[in-house]
Amino acid sequence: MDFAKKLSSLKQSHLYRSRKISENAQNTQLIINGQSLINFCSNDYLSLAKHPKIKQAFKQGVDKFGVGAGASHLISGHTPAHQALEEALADYTGQEKALLFSTGYMANIGVFSALRDELDWVLQDKLNHASLIDANHLIGLPLQRYLHNDMIALEKKIAKQSGQGLIATDTVFSMDGDRADIKGIEKMVKKSSALLMQDDAHGFGVFVPIIPQNSIYMATLGKAAGTMGAFVAGDEDLIDFLIQKSRPYIYTTAIAPALCVATIKSLELIKQGEQNAKLLSNICYFQTLSKALNLPMANSNSAIQPYIVGSSKKAIHLSKELLSAGFYVSAIRPPTVPKDTARLRITLSAEHTHDQIKHLLTQLKYALQ
Ligand SMILES: Cc1ncc(COP(=O)(O)O)c(C=O)c1O
Repeated sequence: MDFAKKLSSLKQSHLYRSRKISENAQNTQLIINGQSLINFCSNDYLSLAKHPKIKQAFKQGVDKFGVGAGASHLISGHTPAHQALEEALADYTGQEKALLFSTGYMANIGVFSALRDELDWVLQDKLNHASLIDANHLIGLPLQRYLHNDMIALEKKIAKQSGQGLIATDTVFSMDGDRADIKGIEKMVKKSSALLMQDDAHGFGVFVPIIPQNSIYMATLGKAAGTMGAFVAGDEDLIDFLIQKSRPYIYTTAIAPALCVATIKSLELIKQGEQNAKLLSNICYFQTLSKALNLPMANSNSAIQPYIVGSSKKAIHLSKELLSAGFYVSAIRPPTVPKDTARLRITLSAEHTHDQIKHLLTQLKYALQ
């Protein structure tokens, strides 16, 4: 295997990925290489990752439960903190039960792997997250995708299937920021007796979830909730089935109990709505100003506001220009997004000030000239 050759080809096509070290707590201000930057690429949408009340809850959790869970949920790793968080998440989402997973990636793989023997087909939105696609590959069913958020295309694809199926969709699309037509999919599901699974990684805590009856709801806790982990919520039988059959649930250590204590606090803050109101005001301000500046942003009313550039080279160039002006905005390239749709993925958080947003957009306008 000539890794060096492969790496050099990635570099030549502007697809080489590298990491930056963020030297302070996740925040609207980040220090990278000693440079202070305004951070517009965090998924900490509600600015909860370093919220004093959540940090305090986390410390209390460590005092009570120590650091590691020490075992998987089915052995001895399921503590009262895990149980309380699952109950709080079920209550928040209006579902009978919730089940914790270590990450959203594992939760998606966990659901698919449990359903493997039950499913004859799966249909996925064209823009679904990589973890749903990987989960599909893992269970060996053909990857069938319908045109993005297109209910007519979905209906046509459903008509060609037979047996028990699953329709999987991101709820808020991770690279585009737009929202799935859950009500539309619900209608299709009712007609076809398929099962709906939504991945609300980017909507949880930001929007009120819409969860049709008898469907599967997955959300992550490392984004708006500001902590880490993920959960699946649904009917009691579904959750019990996952406990029996989901290998990524069964064969892994439970997340740290202190994280659960912190996430319970985070959920309380989400319910209070103060951070959410700040985020929504920032989204509104961003949209108004980008229109006034004639910046054609993609059609999104979530915290994810992409500026689609096209070429990877140009996206990297713009990201570097913004970086030298003090703004950290990531350039997203294929294969994360479809070919020729490289973009700047601007993400907004509750604690961004209107001034920071204004400076970013002015700088972007300048960089585009
Ligand atoms: C839509 C979507 N689903 C799942 C995941 C995976 O979540 P986690 O980061 O908790 O593994 C992500 C992460 O970026 C995501 O964007």
